[in-house]
Amino acid sequence: MNIVIANDHGAVELTARIIKHLEDAGHTVKYLGIDHEESVDYPDQAEKACSEFKKGGYDFGIVNCGTGIGISLSANKIKGIRCALVQDIYSAEKAKQHNNANFIAFGGRVEYKDDPLDILDAYINAKFEGDRHQRRIDKMMALETK
Ligand code: RB5
Repeated sequence: MNIVIANDHGAVELTARIIKHLEDAGHTVKYLGIDHEESVDYPDQAEKACSEFKKGGYDFGIVNCGTGIGISLSANKIKGIRCALVQDIYSAEKAKQHNNANFIAFGGRVEYKDDPLDILDAYINAKFEGDRHQRRIDKMMALETK
């Protein structure tokens, strides 16, 4: 898969771990984040990743900040982006099966009950179920015009 990823200073270590995990599994990663803990603003990092994703050719994107909250909220302001702030394996599976999320977000300062790499793999391995979920997504995306 082709994956774009960006982060702020709150998720440097977790992002490095995720990138290694993805590359070890044979995926191609476009890294637009920062590898130092000097402060940057998460909306700028979300915009970088989402703009790159919208150029096309990516399967999904990942955005990480301290909590995952600010950067996922920011990503979801961009048209066409459905960014899921996943909390565990269950929510990651549903983010793909039901919401067909094209971005997922993690918090580098969050203590997850499941390893974030397992959460990520659950999202990657899940399949969108279409049908009634597509109807709901169509309604969700129509909210962008409100
Ligand atoms: C940065 O200190 C922090 O606010 C940011 O990483 C994120 O947690 C915001 O939602």
